[in-house]
Amino acid sequence: MIENRLDAAIDISYLVAAVLFILGLKGLSSPATARRGNQLAAVGMAVAVIATMVTPGLENHLLMIVAMAIGAVLSIYAAQTVKMTAMPQMVAIFNGTGGAASALVAVAEFMNRNDLDRGGIVTIVLGTIVGAISFTGSMVAYAKLQELMPGRPVVYPAQQIVNAALGIAIVVLSIMVVLGGDVDLGRALLVGVLVLALVLGALVVLPIGGADMPVVIAIQNSLTGVASVFTGLVLSNQALVVAGLLVGASGVLLSSIMAKAMNRSLTNVLFGAFGSVAAGGGGAAAQGEALPVRSVTPEDAAVPLAYAERVVIVPGYGLAVAQAQHVVRELADLLEQRGVDVRYAIHPVAGRMPGHMNVLLAEANVSYDDLYEMDVINGEFAKTNVALVVGANDVTNPAARSNPGSPIYGMPILDVDQAQQVIVLKRSMKSGFAGIENELFHKENTSMLFGDAKESLGKLVAAVKAA
Ligand code: TAP
Repeated sequence: MIENRLDAAIDISYLVAAVLFILGLKGLSSPATARRGNQLAAVGMAVAVIATMVTPGLENHLLMIVAMAIGAVLSIYAAQTVKMTAMPQMVAIFNGTGGAASALVAVAEFMNRNDLDRGGIVTIVLGTIVGAISFTGSMVAYAKLQELMPGRPVVYPAQQIVNAALGIAIVVLSIMVVLGGDVDLGRALLVGVLVLALVLGALVVLPIGGADMPVVIAIQNSLTGVASVFTGLVLSNQALVVAGLLVGASGVLLSSIMAKAMNRSLTNVLFGAFGSVAAGGGGAAAQGEALPVRSVTPEDAAVPLAYAERVVIVPGYGLAVAQAQHVVRELADLLEQRGVDVRYAIHPVAGRMPGHMNVLLAEANVSYDDLYEMDVINGEFAKTNVALVVGANDVTNPAARSNPGSPIYGMPILDVDQAQQVIVLKRSMKSGFAGIENELFHKENTSMLFGDAKESLGKLVAAVKAA
């Protein structure tokens, strides 16, 4: 009787957790509600963990509590110290550990249980494969983004054939595991599946270039979700199944949104080896011509800003590197006090993760009403006196519109070059993530203010005050 009540309470808790996960995910769809969404999902996870811990028949509580305590300490430390620019790497580690956990649980269940039917074994094999691929794939993505290994695509002859052969070997071994027979042989074969899937996961990500890595991470994220679904089924844990489904589905949506914003197909991201060829795109600079660049001082740049009617600020990855979000807001406030209409233009893949610029600007309490999405603001650049590009590069590259030879041709960009004047804040003439020349920097209406974005913005604030 008491056990029945406990079972019912656990089931209800899982339902509550599932609802909280869904509400949490919904909250994440807008910067205004994202914090609350995260909190709701965290409460949901706490409910699910507690319900799991009190499940009758569960053993090794102490071991689990110690493991959770170690995980909690490490992740709280990591979450507090991670730089915004390193967020994709952190997500990669999270995905990877989730995938590894799923694969390990699947293998452990196979080694320890004698009551598995064929459906259960299929689930275990799938959990092992998907979890292992997600683990090593995420680790290679991490290593590339953290520059522990070259970010460029690593290509070698017969790459696709090697991967296909590995895939076939995994399928054959998996079928042998499912068909059953000798128990020890089955266990050894599953370990073989695990090892081959680990190798395949790494090999699939090696030929993918650095600029595509965030998309790959979203795909890995989705795989981790799928692996969790299999683990949830093996363990008969509904909360894990629901959480896995949500992660899997949102990962798929996110990857396709990102791929669309970069004008790439998912197949092209996974098999295109973007950046492995010379990425000049046939522009004049690529052909060796030295194009003119107009460099200005902060005092020169401050004048058109101070006397503008409308300024559009275009933040990019460099804003995150320089941590210049507070000082950019200071400049915007100052201009607004002078009667300038100041807006921020947000490109969907500016920075290194979805919503990167929104999160940064929210940190500096920039009003959401001042943020304009690409489709809306692009029609406004022609009516803008100054487009102030702060550490953005690829997302402003006109080659995406005009140069069919460019690797980013077709990617939707912010049409900053249509503003009367463009002022670009960056440290040098170096390229952005895609590794390609930006003709915007050589246009007649563009001025370059070289230096760290935070320092340059600080100088602009002082100069605007003096103007
Ligand atoms: P990028 O094209 O990467 O350019 C950033 C620029 O910031 C660099 O050219 C760099 O020039 C400058 N910079 C770096 N540190 C700086 C500092 N301290 N002060 C001033 N400038 C600094 O950035 P973006 O325009 O935001 O484009 C994002 C890129 O990432 C795109 O190629 C996009 O496809 C890719 N990507 C993004 C995502 C997501 S979801 N956001 C996903 C996949 C790929 P200097 O070195 O000369 O300073």
